[in-house]
Amino acid sequence: MNKFTSALCALGLGMALASSVNAATGDDAIAERIKPLGQVCMEGDDSCGGAGAAAAAASGGGARSGADVYNASCAACHSIGVAGAPKFGSSDWTDRAAKGMDTLLANAISGINAMPPRGTCASCSDDEINSAIEHMVDSAK
Ligand code: HEC
Repeated sequence: MNKFTSALCALGLGMALASSVNAATGDDAIAERIKPLGQVCMEGDDSCGGAGAAAAAASGGGARSGADVYNASCAACHSIGVAGAPKFGSSDWTDRAAKGMDTLLANAISGINAMPPRGTCASCSDDEINSAIEHMVDSAK
């Protein structure tokens, strides 16, 4: 390699580095600008941070629908009735509904027997848990 080509190589490498750094910061900035206001957060996702979820719930814009919460956090047990969980779309929920929504919500929040507190959705607000229960109770009708 002569002096000229090695200088070219160094220049090329320098430009490649510089442009990849620019691309990285540019992408971040774009992602920041175009990110949605309300973020859907799945169980196990980094965006499920308690503070973020609480802020979303507090702003009123980020509440997840009952179906979303059910699919993300409750279906694992309630779709097929794991460990005696009342099954989605069955008369199990007609029986449970007889307890009244307040009791169902309180038990879902604190847990009951094999039902874990908040159905393992630590980032779910009370309203979101309530929507998920309504979604399941409605499935029995
Ligand atoms: C690890 C499995 C599991 C998950 C996940 C789960 N549940 Fe349950 N759930 C159960 C079981 C088991 C029962 C039955 C408890 C009993 O009555 O013995 C139950 C019962 C319930 C009941 C009835 C409580 C009552 O008082 O009769 C509600 C309401 C409920 N779950 C809501 C939810 C919601 C909402 C979610 C999701 C956010 C969820 N569950 C996720 C296992 C689960």
